[in-house]
Amino acid sequence: MDSFDLVVIGGGPGGYVAAVRGAQLGLKTAIIESRITLGGTCLNVGCIPSKALLDSTELFHQAKTKFKVHGIEISEPKANWNQMIQRKRDVVTSTTKGIDFLMQKNKITRIIGVGSLISGTVVEITNGTEKKQIEGKNIVIATGSAVAQLPSVPFDGQRVISSDEALELSEIPKSMVIIGGGVIGVEMGSIYARLGTQVTIVEFMDGLIPTMDRELGRALEKTLRHLGMTFHFGTKVTGAKSEKKSVTLTAENKKGETISIEADYALVAIGRVAYTQGLGLDKVGIATDSRGRIEIDTHFRTNVPTVYAVGDVVQGAMLAHKASEEGVACVEQIVGQKSHVNYDAIPGVVYTWPEVASVGKTEEELKTAGIAYKKGSAPFKASGRARAAEESDGFIKVLADQTTDEILGIHMIGPRVADLIAEAVVAIEYRASAEDIGIMSHPHPTFSETLKEAALAATGNRAIHF
Ligand code: FAD
Ligand code: NAI
Repeated sequence: MDSFDLVVIGGGPGGYVAAVRGAQLGLKTAIIESRITLGGTCLNVGCIPSKALLDSTELFHQAKTKFKVHGIEISEPKANWNQMIQRKRDVVTSTTKGIDFLMQKNKITRIIGVGSLISGTVVEITNGTEKKQIEGKNIVIATGSAVAQLPSVPFDGQRVISSDEALELSEIPKSMVIIGGGVIGVEMGSIYARLGTQVTIVEFMDGLIPTMDRELGRALEKTLRHLGMTFHFGTKVTGAKSEKKSVTLTAENKKGETISIEADYALVAIGRVAYTQGLGLDKVGIATDSRGRIEIDTHFRTNVPTVYAVGDVVQGAMLAHKASEEGVACVEQIVGQKSHVNYDAIPGVVYTWPEVASVGKTEEELKTAGIAYKKGSAPFKASGRARAAEESDGFIKVLADQTTDEILGIHMIGPRVADLIAEAVVAIEYRASAEDIGIMSHPHPTFSETLKEAALAATGNRAIHF
């Protein structure tokens, strides 16, 4: 039986990053992945393909709506959906191939098949009819997550679909109803609404992206309404009936009224669940919580010594960068280093346009915790760069401790905030005060000046430009 210092099960951003770090630290490393390609959900059916389609459709939307004001005259642009899908596939292929290259470069043994624990140090890999076992002194489980099912609206892969199928539709639908106004709902909804699909979102809670700071959801709703989307909040879907070319949802709103929505497709996007099928957790007695997530301690250790777990399969935000940070910290701890993940400094980004980004505590969380805070908001309207770019929608909000001025949360909606949030992460990580950010020089003219202005506003009405 081949023997390794480190065996990683799952080749997503948690697993492949853990494997690379292990190899860098001199561990003889193997990675087991059931897909033919590495990269997990994120690279194959998540972050990367969705962002490829978001970028293509936003360019299309800009060509239709903004070129004219910039003085660019073109005939009415047409969407070539087949080319958009093909480009998305090409981006996925080149990105997953890049992970193969990383495995080779770091001399990591790559094994294709489903990994199942035989003991705390032995994994059996099944690939079709072939089976083999390998030994690992340390095993890291990074098997990720799968789409959550809604019992009253079962997937049929034809009319009732998940994000997997929504990234591969053969046509631009005339209409789509999306169950769930979370991250997938608003991102996939944006892709199709920009192409002319009539998108309706049905959300259980009373607003979009409800786990983020509520001001962001309200502002996003306004821009998505402008894009033509319609919303049913506080509404519970009770059933679905699929026909050959359409599906009809029934739902109940807060007033107890029954509504019915017909569309070409129903996309179910109500969250994801930890994926542990076939892993043999019962066989070795690894504990899971009430939501099926593998239980770990603060060192990523399961209750079986030598077996660790990271990423979507454990508690916490289901984000690629969170999974990767955990993969690195877990392996560094295995070799005795004192690494950790600062969960307060994990940003969340929604790739709509304008983009939405957040790090640290929301206003709602601070209120619930009874923490006294100061707030400074700056609108992109006051930014010269934003006006030059025709991108004045949105704002940045800085929340700081009332007494110490320490930044507790930064929340943004606006142009390129997916990238601007990195400065806010540095501020939170280094426990900067709002004044620290406010008095630092920011290049002019840039979108980043809006963060400086919001920080100044939080330090007592010191913003200059509004
Ligand atoms: P995964 O990426 O799910 O990887 C787990 C891998 O393990 C899979 O490849 C699976 O095939 C494999 N596996 C499972 N069981 C076994 C087994 N027994 N043996 C062998 N292999 C196994 N996050 C972001 O941060 N930014 C985004 O923009 C973003 N966009 C997203 C868009 C969509 C549509 C979706 C669905 C998700 C998105 N996410 C995004 C979330 C992100 O994809 C996940 O948080 C991330 O992939 C989790 O990484 P992971 O390594 O824990 O698991
Ligand atoms: P989500 O948790 O973001 O949103 C699910 C939404 O569905 C919630 O608003 C919830 O209130 C609503 N909901 C739940 N049950 C419902 C019901 N029965 N009827 C109506 N609404 C209901 O989950 P989503 O959008 O499926 O995404 C899954 C995961 O993937 C998320 O955890 C997210 O972190 C990750 N992801 C991250 C992205 C990013 O970082 N840009 C992009 C896409 C996904």
